[in-house]
Amino acid sequence: MKKLFSIIALVIMSFTTFTLAACSSSNVFTYVIDESFTEYITMGTSADYAPYEWPMNVGGKQTIVGIDIEIAKHIAQALGKNLKVVNKSFDFLLDDLQSGKVDFVMAAMTPTEARAQKVDFSNIYYEATQVLLIQTINLNIYSSIDSLNLSSKRVGAQMGSIQADLLAEFFPNSQATILAAVPDLALRLQQGQLDGLIVEKPVADGYVINLSGLSIAPFIIGEPDGGSAVAVQKGNQTLLALINQVIADLISSGTLDDIVAQMVILNSGE
Ligand code: ARG
Repeated sequence: MKKLFSIIALVIMSFTTFTLAACSSSNVFTYVIDESFTEYITMGTSADYAPYEWPMNVGGKQTIVGIDIEIAKHIAQALGKNLKVVNKSFDFLLDDLQSGKVDFVMAAMTPTEARAQKVDFSNIYYEATQVLLIQTINLNIYSSIDSLNLSSKRVGAQMGSIQADLLAEFFPNSQATILAAVPDLALRLQQGQLDGLIVEKPVADGYVINLSGLSIAPFIIGEPDGGSAVAVQKGNQTLLALINQVIADLISSGTLDDIVAQMVILNSGE
């Protein structure tokens, strides 16, 4: 009987813990832009991509920081709303946008044709090339795409990203490792379980500083003129026009350059 009670207690306890965890919404972060604003606009992101977005403890509070968050704050300000950020795996973001769980998505997202069938994209707010992060000890060996496009080489990319497509296109012979979170891939590379990892250059630069033994291979992958854009629901022209205006203002005033510089410094831990 005693045993039965403890089993029931255990079941109730685990149920409560589960419910509490579900309610605490540890993947939702709020940013009060102005105390007088009463509404929120909600952005979806995947906070695994410093300096664009990554988790950080600020003043004892867990939050998400990054270039995209700073731009989103300006978008919220222009709308007269506070900002809510929902953090998910990268490959869930456009579904959440389409189903209306979030109002817009910022995640260093490249506006591809396939994605543009599902959502509408703003103008590009930040340009970057695609590079291969490798171990520094391999810098002389991995000097070309061909040197890694071999069945013995393991190349990684994020699930649902354009890097996963680039991996299939440029490294068809390599062993592909596709994971949901970029930091997991970077750790595998550092530990020698991967030979290369495709990411945007600013992200690679961050890892070169933050994880010892990593370098950027001396070639770029794919288009030299890629970039990131904000995604909104198809047909949401009002929000899109406002976002494009905010982007244009941030670029022409030089504020965007300042944001990028600050976030690069924040990510380098200085
Ligand atoms: N630019 C790439 C893409 O659009 C990768 C973006 C990854 N972003 C992230 N927050 N993990 O597919």
